[in-house]
Amino acid sequence: MNEFKGKTALVTGASRGIGAAAAVALAAQGCGRVIVHYNSYPEGAEQALNAIRAAGAEGVAIQADLSTMEGTRKLAGEVAGLGGIHYLINNAGSLIRRATLDQHSEELFDTVMNLNVKSLWFLTQAIVPAIEAAGGGAVVNVSSIAARNGGGPGATIYAAAKAAVSAITKGLAKELAPKNIRVNAVSPGTVDNHFHEMFSTKAVLEGVVKATPAGRLATNEDISDCIVFLCSSRSSYILGQTIEINGGFYMV
Ligand SMILES: NC(=O)c1ccc[n+]([C@@H]2O[C@H](COP(=O)([O-])OP(=O)(O)OC[C@H]3O[C@@H](n4cnc5c(N)ncnc54)[C@H](OP(=O)(O)O)[C@@H]3O)[C@@H](O)[C@H]2O)c1
Repeated sequence: MNEFKGKTALVTGASRGIGAAAAVALAAQGCGRVIVHYNSYPEGAEQALNAIRAAGAEGVAIQADLSTMEGTRKLAGEVAGLGGIHYLINNAGSLIRRATLDQHSEELFDTVMNLNVKSLWFLTQAIVPAIEAAGGGAVVNVSSIAARNGGGPGATIYAAAKAAVSAITKGLAKELAPKNIRVNAVSPGTVDNHFHEMFSTKAVLEGVVKATPAGRLATNEDISDCIVFLCSSRSSYILGQTIEINGGFYMV
């Protein structure tokens, strides 16, 4: 009996990177329907949908800017029309841009917090009734190694946002366990994808590889494999954890 068969997953930020890999992996596991959220990259969402359909699942794409409450409500509203949800993967997030204390603005602070924390909180609030109605399921949040080490240069508020994600994961794990909803998080180290193409130089990434016992950066699939595990009953006694996936770069 395939436990994923006929289940529905919602993956935010699934137009590329970790989210796209998770959406496709959940379809490959047997989910009947995968909802692909995206913001600015419809072509990526389309590619993810093609891979989801090739794996035999129904794919639905929804656009929303999760740095605003309007966008969060739009996504929640459109998902509400689609019936029960079993797995919510709160993956969408960004550093937005690097800024040290002296360079920071109130607007940047709010955007980083709204995208990485506020939208995760209120989207989860909106989706939990649909998971409950479906008989329970799992929420997997995407934190970051930055939550543990304070982040790289100019990433302090992003790190603080991700620390909030890890704390929310613990609080919600306790609150939602009686509803048969397990909440956990993954905490990637440095993933070889679009995120660091935007925010890090080649030299910095080479330095990370040298300092990583595994001898390489993470792949999107290194992270999505753990997301699938945290959705599955193989992790049924794991609640409120943030799993560090960083090749040994930072051990806690
Ligand atoms: N890459 C890493 O090394 C790393 C390390 C630790 C944690 N993380 C976390 O992992 C998660 C996934 O990132 P990734 O590595 O896969 O990066 P990515 O390839 O840049 O993907 C980011 C995803 O988030 C979406 N997103 C960004 N801004 C958004 C907004 N304003 N509204 C809605 N969606 C938005 C993007 O949508 P569009 O492209 O459609 O705009 C995209 O699908 C993030 O939470 C990130 O903070 C990444």
